[in-house]
Amino acid sequence: MDRLFVTGGRRLQGSVPVGGAKNSALKLMAAALLTEGRTVIENVPRIADCQTMAEVLEHLGAGVSWDGTTVTLDTSDARGIETPYELVSRMRASIVVLGPLLARRGRARVAMPGGCNIGSRSIDLHLKGLERMGADFSTRHGYLEARAGQLRGATIVLDFPSVGATENILMAAVAASGTTVIENAAREPEIQDLAAMLGEMGAAIDGAGSTTIEVMGSGDAGPFRPIRHRTVPDRIEAGTYAIAACITGGEVLLEDARPDHLDMVLDKLVEAGAGVELVDDGISVSMADRPRAVDFVTLPYPGFPTDLQPQLMAMLATARGTSIATENVFESRFMFVEELNRMGADIRTEGHHAVIRGVHRLSAAPVRALDIRAGAAMIIAALAAEGASEIADLHHVDRGYASFDARLASLGAELQREPSLRPAYT
Ligand code: UD1
Repeated sequence: MDRLFVTGGRRLQGSVPVGGAKNSALKLMAAALLTEGRTVIENVPRIADCQTMAEVLEHLGAGVSWDGTTVTLDTSDARGIETPYELVSRMRASIVVLGPLLARRGRARVAMPGGCNIGSRSIDLHLKGLERMGADFSTRHGYLEARAGQLRGATIVLDFPSVGATENILMAAVAASGTTVIENAAREPEIQDLAAMLGEMGAAIDGAGSTTIEVMGSGDAGPFRPIRHRTVPDRIEAGTYAIAACITGGEVLLEDARPDHLDMVLDKLVEAGAGVELVDDGISVSMADRPRAVDFVTLPYPGFPTDLQPQLMAMLATARGTSIATENVFESRFMFVEELNRMGADIRTEGHHAVIRGVHRLSAAPVRALDIRAGAAMIIAALAAEGASEIADLHHVDRGYASFDARLASLGAELQREPSLRPAYT
């Protein structure tokens, strides 16, 4: 049992480094499959998910070596096409190897994903897009078998601006013959980061960060140039520490955070009473008083991110007044609410809406981390609760946050991990 004991009531104060974005680094690592040789990616967070992606690439034949947060991926002998269930079941994002494998090898065999406990997460949009480019899919024994000859450029209109589908299609399209247009594309900063890296590798991409992305395919299976690239800072990690600072009435400098990627999040915190100051090396966030209630709605970027919904709910659970949260991205992302209510929160959900009646003080309780972000929300709630909480299943949090407990401790939180050793990759 991996768990964290948190004694609430300490005000967070100090500065915390914001690392590279998990949701970017995973895709940048997969993009290395489009090259032959050594790709170097800097600012890759030392978290379980990046470790899993390293294992996925090793399974495909790549050499992986780490130097701090810099990873070198040698794809000279990466001839594999299969990603086994053991890895995909640990991390659903493993399916982003589909696009680059189809582009380079014309074949892929990827276990069908399981995933986070946040609702059904199908990959139909990934497959429909790749099919439009000439790929062919079948499923056998829990594996998705993909085949393609030379991929062809196509116009692909996504039903929903799916991050993963946009990325898989993008990585396939760079090697297609002719032009691919992705309409209703996801606009997340992580997509822009991937497109920037693909551009450095020699791909021709226009419009990343907007709803229409145009890719002028190279017309052959490559390889693209191996390059060195630095991962964009993690806006979700930054937002998580900002919310943690606010719930404790603290003041934290988020070193290296990108304010332009956090517009909506910072707006909501200011509406709740936070002080936000942009400084040279990051963003300073403080909260002098109990937060005020605010309503919010999750939407694809630039809307409020679903990956900060549980954390903000935890903060609003202690706010003055009643807030309404609406979750529009994942259908079952309120499952953690019952855990939060065990800590004295007063939250009622109805479909994809939640009514959060702020209580004066949460009270410590044994709770579980249900997924990465819900786990972070439990820890945030515990920081402000009266007494000592025990958060079980900490491995979920380790998937997405580098040394979360140690960094919170350095800001003044009182907490202890059990077993006390963090995983070897951190
Ligand atoms: C990525 C992020 C995740 C974040 C999410 C939304 C990674 C590793 N994960 O996940 O942290 O919460 O973006 O910002 O980058 N959908 C379909 N069919 C598809 C694909 C998606 O119906 O083929 C639906 C999903 O079920 C979900 C919604 O679209 O309801 C959004 O999913 P998507 O944007 O694809 O998220 P991920 O790429 O899986």
